[in-house]
Amino acid sequence: MSKQLKTISEIGLVPLIVLEDAACAKPLGEALAAGGIPVAEVTFRTDACLDIIRAMKEIPNLIVGAGTVHTAEQAAAAVHAGATYIVTPAYNPGVIEWCLAHDIDVIPGTVTPGEIEGAYAYGIRLCKFFPAAAYGGTMTLKALAGPFADVRFLPTGGVSLENMIDYLALPNVAAIGGSFMTPEKLVAAQDWAGITDTCRTIVEKMRS
Ligand code: 3PG
Repeated sequence: MSKQLKTISEIGLVPLIVLEDAACAKPLGEALAAGGIPVAEVTFRTDACLDIIRAMKEIPNLIVGAGTVHTAEQAAAAVHAGATYIVTPAYNPGVIEWCLAHDIDVIPGTVTPGEIEGAYAYGIRLCKFFPAAAYGGTMTLKALAGPFADVRFLPTGGVSLENMIDYLALPNVAAIGGSFMTPEKLVAAQDWAGITDTCRTIVEKMRS
């Protein structure tokens, strides 16, 4: 695992960014960092995503990645804008191969043993597990630990304040991700202090 992916595992939390307005990127990124979560996965779900990556890159010590990446072209654009790692929602050999060829960290979406095996064959040992809750959540992750003893996961999709500890308690969970660290209501209200408070609560819960 690369140094950057190790750092993300140490932080243990990966907030999902879905923003329409790039002007909000800087205050949102600063709010995450102030709350103790210096990571952002900026998703290709809005047209503003490349501007958001560029704006967040200005924030010192914030690790900025791109998520919901479906194509190698999107991965290239994200990296050109400043993203230092790529996350895919599903198992996507084209994006994996582009990232490996360009020496960019990639966390591929996987959910079945077959997909994990596919990622394994590329030498990948950190996979996204999405949609976690719908695919058996912690029960499935426990079952995967036997045959995939050296693979660690980033579960997302249904991870929440209520169940986060159950996921983090598993040895094969490197970090958890999701939108619960950037609640839509707070983002829409541009309540950056509220985002920082939310992050602090999550970090305290993780450490407790
Ligand atoms: C993802 O892309 O990781 C998921 O959409 C996150 O799902 P969540 O909104 O349930 O956290």
